[in-house]
Amino acid sequence: MKIGIAFDLKADFDASALPADAPDDLLEEYDSPATVEAIARVLTTRGHEPVLLGGGRRFVERLLEARPDLVFNLAEGRGSRSREAHVPALCELLGIPCTHSDPLTMAVSLDKAMAKRVVASAGVPTPRFAVVTQVAQLSDLVLPYPLFAKPLFEGSSMGVRRRSRCADEAQLRERVQRLLDDYGEPVLVEEFCGGHEFTVAILGTGAEARVVSAMEVVPLVTPVADFVYSLEVKRNPNWREEIRYDAPPRRPVREVAQIEQVALDAYRALDCRDVGRVDVRCDANGAPKFIELNPLPGLAPGWSDIALLWERVGRSYDDLILSILDRACARLRL
Ligand SMILES: Nc1ncnc2c1ncn2[C@@H]1O[C@H](COP(=O)(O)OP(=O)(O)OP(=O)(O)O)[C@@H](O)[C@H]1O
Ligand SMILES: [Mg+2]
Repeated sequence: MKIGIAFDLKADFDASALPADAPDDLLEEYDSPATVEAIARVLTTRGHEPVLLGGGRRFVERLLEARPDLVFNLAEGRGSRSREAHVPALCELLGIPCTHSDPLTMAVSLDKAMAKRVVASAGVPTPRFAVVTQVAQLSDLVLPYPLFAKPLFEGSSMGVRRRSRCADEAQLRERVQRLLDDYGEPVLVEEFCGGHEFTVAILGTGAEARVVSAMEVVPLVTPVADFVYSLEVKRNPNWREEIRYDAPPRRPVREVAQIEQVALDAYRALDCRDVGRVDVRCDANGAPKFIELNPLPGLAPGWSDIALLWERVGRSYDDLILSILDRACARLRL
């Protein structure tokens, strides 16, 4: 098959055009050429012909020109909470099959409050929350501290720092103001879950969806009750001193099964397709809660959480990419 790869590279954006006081993680979601090359290489091992489509306007032009049999979607999109829906929506419009979730799931999942409303209505536990657009709204908040503040529709830990955990109203006000100024979008304020943290990889669609494994993000220095899997941790070149990834988690089977069930229920409630990564964190009493669903999980070899999980369960990077492709082809009957 001719498989078009949709992607957005950090290099596609002119970092020098960003305002001098812009946060240093504004391009964090975007890929590097190495990831696109790795995926293209894996596709050729199956005899497919990869075509690099890129993102934005260039994606539209190349898609019309190349007319691939399938689009392998990596593109984070640009500019709005619907950005991850752009590529699947265009493919839908043109009748071109596309891997990963449809536009609705992409957009709902990126807006973390929308996603929480959907999963909560399906009975999946998730921290209580509020969405604020002005610091003054915090006076009306009735949630118990500590609270967590993050941008409403970003990923890759954009805007997530150690200081995102707020112990009192003064800290919360400062953090929320900073996020409103930096990202120009509403802020999600939710109960802080001070228990163990997991990310769960899922493959497949609907009733066929299956958990591959959960992976625990184990803090080695910070007490779990204060831990945030923040950008500081992810960017630390000596991250091995700060965290360990356990896949499968070194925890009792029943505990892991509960965590995986929360993830799978959320995945199904959000109608996720082909692949997804669900973040689940336990509260201080050990009850697992849905934090967010990534229907377009990063696929950087040796870096992205799902690639690290795959390695730890003894499966190769090639297997990760081909597993996604196989699930998409089965769903699309290609
Ligand atoms: N309600 C919460 N309680 C405790 N910790 C939280 C909460 N929400 C987020 N976190 C911490 O912040 C981290 C990042 O949050 P979240 O997963 O929502 O952001 P993200 O940027 O979309 O993540 P990703 O890098 O997976 O795309 C989590 O992995 C967790 O450590
Ligand atoms: Mg996350």
